[in-house]
Amino acid sequence: MTGHRILLIVGGGIAAYKACELIRLIRKAGMSVRCVLTAAGEQFVTPMTLAALSEQPVHTSLWDLKDEAEMGHIQLSREADLVVVAPATANLLARMNAGIADDLATTLLLATDKPVLAAPAMNVRMWQHAATRRNVAQLRADGVTVIEPDEGAMACGEYGPGRLPDPEAILAAITAQLAPVKRLPANARPLAGRHVIVTAGPTHEPIDPVRYIANRSSGRQGFAIAGALAALGARITLVAGPVVLPTPAGVDRVDVETAREMAAAVDAALPADAAVMVAAVADWHVAAADQKIKKQPGGAPPALALAENPDILATLAASPRRPALVVGFAAETEQVLAHATAKRARKGADWIVANDVSGGKGESVMGGARNSVHIVTADGVESWPDLPKEAVATRLADRIAAALTA
Ligand code: C5P
Repeated sequence: MTGHRILLIVGGGIAAYKACELIRLIRKAGMSVRCVLTAAGEQFVTPMTLAALSEQPVHTSLWDLKDEAEMGHIQLSREADLVVVAPATANLLARMNAGIADDLATTLLLATDKPVLAAPAMNVRMWQHAATRRNVAQLRADGVTVIEPDEGAMACGEYGPGRLPDPEAILAAITAQLAPVKRLPANARPLAGRHVIVTAGPTHEPIDPVRYIANRSSGRQGFAIAGALAALGARITLVAGPVVLPTPAGVDRVDVETAREMAAAVDAALPADAAVMVAAVADWHVAAADQKIKKQPGGAPPALALAENPDILATLAASPRRPALVVGFAAETEQVLAHATAKRARKGADWIVANDVSGGKGESVMGGARNSVHIVTADGVESWPDLPKEAVATRLADRIAAALTA
């Protein structure tokens, strides 16, 4: 864990005192910690205590960060490897969920591009209230790791779930969250001078001028990978299907609609050192009509004639201009590893990143914030824990950098 940087947001609850012990444990584990104290938190612990324990300045107000050039709130939110909210009060969770940014803590939480871990602490009724249940469920769906509170006697005299977990348990959650990330030195740009093509999102295959066939891919995983690779210094061509995502910093984006357009854009972007094909490319296109197909009253529905799309990944892997590293993705609903291993051979990819979309998980993985993947390579299979898509992206980018620079 040595070297990881934690941004600890201390909310206002009686459990705030446990944040002091948490700071001590985080530092003992070899990590540094910078604290942000909410106004309510200041009612329970003082900035002085947190500053002394963390040996770092403590931030309490958005307006403290006068010198934006030196330490603006954006920088503060992004220079950490992990943002930890402990204790996360019902109010803080509600504001996080709503995207409200009305103080330093919530502004940082909205501005950060790093994984967020929240350790809730509140009265049992507040924890069990439908509003808190909704907020926690949505935050989890958005990729925030919300750990379960402990059950026991509470400061307010009631009994039940809602107690802040012990600092040791919070540290274990922090370690689990960070363990997979092999840290490169800060500002390392191991991919400087390299070009990587990333495909992302779905494709739309027109049926006629107003209708199309699509799939559930949000593009989120591919966009995160493009951003993570750009952060390591690579020049990125991101070939994106129709998605509603902002372009990550430092990424050249080419928007396409159909699989055939995506294939042409990938070809036009060559040569490249690596290609990461994350897009959920439609396997077929429709022999599309030039005019809107009209419903015939009483008539038979039109038959759609499907024709096969080019397999962009397989074509690239077999091409004389093949990048040194070709990575494909596989969403499998059953026998995930067997199918991914077969796909790796069939498509000629160096690695296949397999995600399990069985049991109805297709919808939550393809549109959602988290992903659990297996990396299938010539050396075998590496299974990663369930992580936010951004964390999968960082890990994969680090692994690609290691492979390209080996
Ligand atoms: O065969 P399947 O669609 O499961 O393969 C998934 C992998 O192949 C992904 O990496 C996807 O981007 C790529 N692919 C492609 N062109 C296609 C179909 C899939 O590049 N026509």
